[in-house]
Amino acid sequence: MSEVAATIDRDLDRYREELFDFLRIPSISAQSEHDADTRRAAEWLVERMREAGLEAEVCETPRHPVVYGEWLGAGPDAPTVLVYGHYDVQPVEPLDEWESDPFEPVIRDGRIYARGTADDKGQLYLHVKAIEAHLKARGRLPVNVKVIAEGEEEIGSPNLVPFVEANRERLAADAVVISDSGLFAPGIPSILYSLRGLAYFELHVQGPDADLHSGVYGGPVVNPANALARIVASLHDERGRIAIEGFYDDVVEWDEETRAEIRGLPFDEEGFMREIGVTALGGEEGYSTLEKRWSRPTCDVNGMLSGYTGEGAKTVLPARATAKVSFRLVPDQDPARVGELFRAHVERVTPPGVRVRVDELHGGRPWRARLDARLEQAARRALERAFGRPPVLVGEGGSIPIVGEFERVLEAPALLIGFSYPGCNLHAPNEWFAVEAFELGIRTIATLYDELGG
Ligand code: BES
Ligand code: ZN
Repeated sequence: MSEVAATIDRDLDRYREELFDFLRIPSISAQSEHDADTRRAAEWLVERMREAGLEAEVCETPRHPVVYGEWLGAGPDAPTVLVYGHYDVQPVEPLDEWESDPFEPVIRDGRIYARGTADDKGQLYLHVKAIEAHLKARGRLPVNVKVIAEGEEEIGSPNLVPFVEANRERLAADAVVISDSGLFAPGIPSILYSLRGLAYFELHVQGPDADLHSGVYGGPVVNPANALARIVASLHDERGRIAIEGFYDDVVEWDEETRAEIRGLPFDEEGFMREIGVTALGGEEGYSTLEKRWSRPTCDVNGMLSGYTGEGAKTVLPARATAKVSFRLVPDQDPARVGELFRAHVERVTPPGVRVRVDELHGGRPWRARLDARLEQAARRALERAFGRPPVLVGEGGSIPIVGEFERVLEAPALLIGFSYPGCNLHAPNEWFAVEAFELGIRTIATLYDELGG
């Protein structure tokens, strides 16, 4: 390992400068005015992957390209690792809440601030640099590596599953390694054992043909905004449970051992509340905060729109109302089944006088790790060597729908080790990634290859 470690020491400043260049490209996948930027990020990445020693190319899809690269010099008897990450980023609005330009990275207090630092450019790039360090130091890697990076993760990966299915042979691997999540706390290396799934809908409530005077028409005419509020309010009961019939049928309760392990983690609830600026927490009765975030399903309104929202008063009875509603799912819930139950519920509670439509946005299955012992031991040793302490097992509340699809199509276990810190403002203004986490990530992954290949 030492010559690889020495190479990392020597080249670290350059790695960071390159990452800054990557971060300067506004590859916002959701916004079509950034389509050319998103492509530029893919092309930039391919160039860096080639420089690192991978054979790499841009692969077209109906929208944002997939980047693929490989180094297969370890031979057919060595294990093959598939690395996945995404080079697209979330939109930056509200822009005025950023303390510095989201696409001009700066270091403040040991943190690299820019959109996409943690999610996921910094974490994707540390893999490329770990590969580069091996190839530069030794001319070879102890494992075969394949790297796939998509530009559509933040919009639900619409083209990646077909790509993976069509390239099953090419992507074949013994393990999929992903860094798109976080550490339990700074300095505590973490292996992820669960991600929640997602089922995301748009609810449209239509009343009269056009907006009406709320005095002249209010009373007999059913107000779509009021109706929407009633529908939304009906989604939970007073104990914080989701009140959709059959919703919990497929929820697997976690075993006592895992629940005890979660309870044993040093979670600072007061600090958590302080960090997000609230004075009390809610949610489902009978579960701890970490359980509510990691192992219980949710239903949340993500956006609402109706009537007059401009300055001052306008007495109007709106013609329509819209809400974006998403469910986070846990094993063994199925997004399609949740969609059916949600539709049935909405139809049942919608008052006469308005029409309702439920459109599907996107979804993904929940995931629970099924690491084989060899992979888990290699990950444990690599994390312990890089961080100087053994890792903890953690869950996550977010979703990476492709993880389960990789496992299904490639029949290989996924290992999720992420390096971002709690409170790093994913999807929010002032996203950051710790300078030291970028370095620790490179060292961990470089060591992981030795552990897996040894
Ligand atoms: N990296 C995140 C998911 C994540 C966040 C995993 C925190 C673990 C910890 C990913 O980029 C993401 O944001 N995914 C979306 C889902 C997607 C279908 C839009 C999410 O969770 O909202
Ligand atoms: Zn994200």
